[in-house]
Amino acid sequence: MSTKTVRVLVLMCSSRPGARGPAVAEWLAETVAPRAAELGVELVPVALRDLGLPFLDEEDEPASGVYRHEHTKRWSATVDAADGFIAVTPEYNYGMPAILKNALDYLGREWAWKPMGFVSYGNTSAGTRSVQHAKQVVTTLRLVPLGATLALRIGDTMENGRVRPDAGRAAIAVGVLDELVRVAHALRPLREQARSQPGPLPGSYVRQLTPGDAGEVLVLQRCCWMEEALANDTLAVPALGESLERVGAWLATWHTTGLWQDGRLLGMVRARRVDDDWHVGRLGVVPDLRGRGVGRWLLGRAEAAAEAGCRRFVLRTGAESRRNLALYHAQGYRTESSDGATAFLTKPVPAHEPAPAAG
Ligand SMILES: Cc1cc2nc3c(=O)[nH]c(=O)nc-3n(C[C@H](O)[C@H](O)[C@H](O)COP(=O)(O)O)c2cc1C
Repeated sequence: MSTKTVRVLVLMCSSRPGARGPAVAEWLAETVAPRAAELGVELVPVALRDLGLPFLDEEDEPASGVYRHEHTKRWSATVDAADGFIAVTPEYNYGMPAILKNALDYLGREWAWKPMGFVSYGNTSAGTRSVQHAKQVVTTLRLVPLGATLALRIGDTMENGRVRPDAGRAAIAVGVLDELVRVAHALRPLREQARSQPGPLPGSYVRQLTPGDAGEVLVLQRCCWMEEALANDTLAVPALGESLERVGAWLATWHTTGLWQDGRLLGMVRARRVDDDWHVGRLGVVPDLRGRGVGRWLLGRAEAAAEAGCRRFVLRTGAESRRNLALYHAQGYRTESSDGATAFLTKPVPAHEPAPAAG
């Protein structure tokens, strides 16, 4: 189970005065709240009728991502920040309510690669036809509908406007949340890839690493720097002995690039400015992808991020780390000094090309 929190919007999809929707959404939130806490899920109730969305009134198609109206920008930010959704939906005339279809139609990429679960309610069919209708629409948006679903027949399950407590029903609701969270974690790499720059390997992508990535970074470091320890015949290699907290602390202050593929951290490099120097370090690539230019590519990324005014790239590596030294020398670094344990290398930051004159 990932340690990252999952933000789930519980969408209440009816707009009528006196609607049953709020009572069903409230029952759902109360029922799954303990499990949500265990799973690290943040449940966010959203009543679609409170969003102030008129019938779709944007000039550009949602796929463009160009939004003119504040109500669209707000809705875009809300959906964008979510990892998954549970639609609490009635059935209107064998279909989903118009307010849900309209809210879906407003946006595009914000929905993509996120799971959507359904808690439906209605008369004869317990809202199941509404869910079938919604499923064929949401897949177009690359939302991933869950198999787990809860369907409430109003006559059997509601009393005095409330959902009657029932252990079996509660267990099914928790099952919907469980499946939602598993699918949300599984889809996270697809969400990240869709929002990131591509990396050098097919399907790979790059993004900045944050303290939340400390677990993956720790594993990569221990794997990569073990070879450094063997090559230099010492365990006094900082990257080997760092604690999770220590890694999280430096991730907060360094500009660190991670290369990912299918949720796996393939490589990383960190950099930051000290006076007029751009310090580069912690360049590591998983063992099975060595020799494919990934380290060179990451080094280029770290150098390209150098702040204006920096005059030198500087880095350190083990004095006996021949593989590293060969890479750095091939990329234009010169060994300035070595104390027998650590080699210190530099390379001038190339002067920026002046922009070509207009005309
Ligand atoms: C416009 C409309 C259409 C409806 N169509 C269906 C239907 O096709 N199937 C069904 O089981 N119930 C249908 N119902 C009954 C609803 O399931 C029931 O009124 C439910 O409480 C509606 O959800 P709400 O109270 O949150 O609006 C319909 C109700 C309305 C208002």
